[in-house]
Amino acid sequence: MTTLATHAPSSDYDPFDADVLLDVHLHDGRLREVAPVVHIEKYDFYAVTRHAEIQKALRDWRTFSSTDRPFYQPNPFRPNAPLMQDPPDHTQTKSVMMRIFSRENMAKMQAYFAESATGLVDDLLAGGAVDLDAYRDVAARYVLQVFPDVLGLPTEGRELLLKFGDAVFNAFGPQNEHHHAKMRSGAPALAWVEENMKRELQDEGGIGAQLYAAADEGVISETEAEQLLKSVFGAGFDTTVFGISGALRAFADNPEQWQLLRSRPDLIESAFEEALRLYPPSRYGGRIAVRDTELGGIAIPAGTKLLLMWLGAGRDPRKWSDPDQFRIDRHDAGSHLSFGFGIHTCAGQAVARLEAKSLLSALIDRVERIELAGEPRRAINFQAFGHESIPIRLVPAG
Ligand code: HEM
Repeated sequence: MTTLATHAPSSDYDPFDADVLLDVHLHDGRLREVAPVVHIEKYDFYAVTRHAEIQKALRDWRTFSSTDRPFYQPNPFRPNAPLMQDPPDHTQTKSVMMRIFSRENMAKMQAYFAESATGLVDDLLAGGAVDLDAYRDVAARYVLQVFPDVLGLPTEGRELLLKFGDAVFNAFGPQNEHHHAKMRSGAPALAWVEENMKRELQDEGGIGAQLYAAADEGVISETEAEQLLKSVFGAGFDTTVFGISGALRAFADNPEQWQLLRSRPDLIESAFEEALRLYPPSRYGGRIAVRDTELGGIAIPAGTKLLLMWLGAGRDPRKWSDPDQFRIDRHDAGSHLSFGFGIHTCAGQAVARLEAKSLLSALIDRVERIELAGEPRRAINFQAFGHESIPIRLVPAG
């Protein structure tokens, strides 16, 4: 029996409203409960809200193309490759991108990330129990040291990478005053990034040089090599800082989970996945339907632009039991969509996971308790989700 697809229900929900941005879990969660696919009247796109339907769309790249999306217009902060490509172009650029995460490169990172994490945590705890900011003093300090070092970036100006990410993730949304303010405040960061992307500034044999070498081989164009490097700069820093600081917040809110991790360090990987499910650093992605189709029994005409709202899907009760709870021993924590899914799944997830694992390993050996020491403050951003401040107290292990 064939089921006829029905029209998408319409909603006056505005995912970019200032009040919504203050609590996206609440509001995107309410939208998720309306239907798996909802027409957003104000901007005339469809929101895909639930885990199963988002995953289905991401698997079917032939129908849900990456070459267009709601609000798309060229923007110097957002490179087109690899995110806005379909195969065969995407296959080429992604394979070049993945070369930089080769086993050899990852092995070098592993040793360096672990050593740096130990050094940082020893330094933080040198005077005993300490009050600090999990976002600024732990996650940002660590991520801005280790990955830029691997990329061979100068120390001066590194903090601009977070400003750059802030603009990148506010570029994908309506062109309102919030968007324009972020483009203006991100301008110095864009200039720094474009300077440091230059071919002649890349370390010999380093990650940037490896991308330009693929252009020399003719595998990708020079422009694509530049765009790949820009996407590492744009996607590789505040995402990971938000992910790691979100994990620290989750542990501060759930002290028994920290004790569980200390007694079962084999749960480190699943703990980070669980934190990414609960606090996904990326709220949504975009696609366009290039032929008539359906999702969850709802008709989607060719030409429809869609937002795939995976932050809300991370707490979809159809997929997760007790979705609002942080439980590091969930057996399927890693099946969240916070790194995307399908051919565009996050290129840098191995690096992000390695950074998180290295830091958490150093902390579980040395920290008895992580306590919340003040009110966390959210970073307000269209597409990125995270905190700009999480006051915590680290109590060292005896
Ligand atoms: C916790 C940290 C991170 C999170 C949550 C995250 C999230 C994501 C998500 C959701 C996507 C899919 C976008 C889509 O399908 O529309 C993606 C793609 C991507 N990410 Fe990440 N990311 C993280 C870290 C990184 C890092 C460290 C890098 C670079 C070193 C990176 C580079 C990329 C690139 C280049 C893509 C595009 C892949 C493609 O189009 O095939 N990300 N990321």
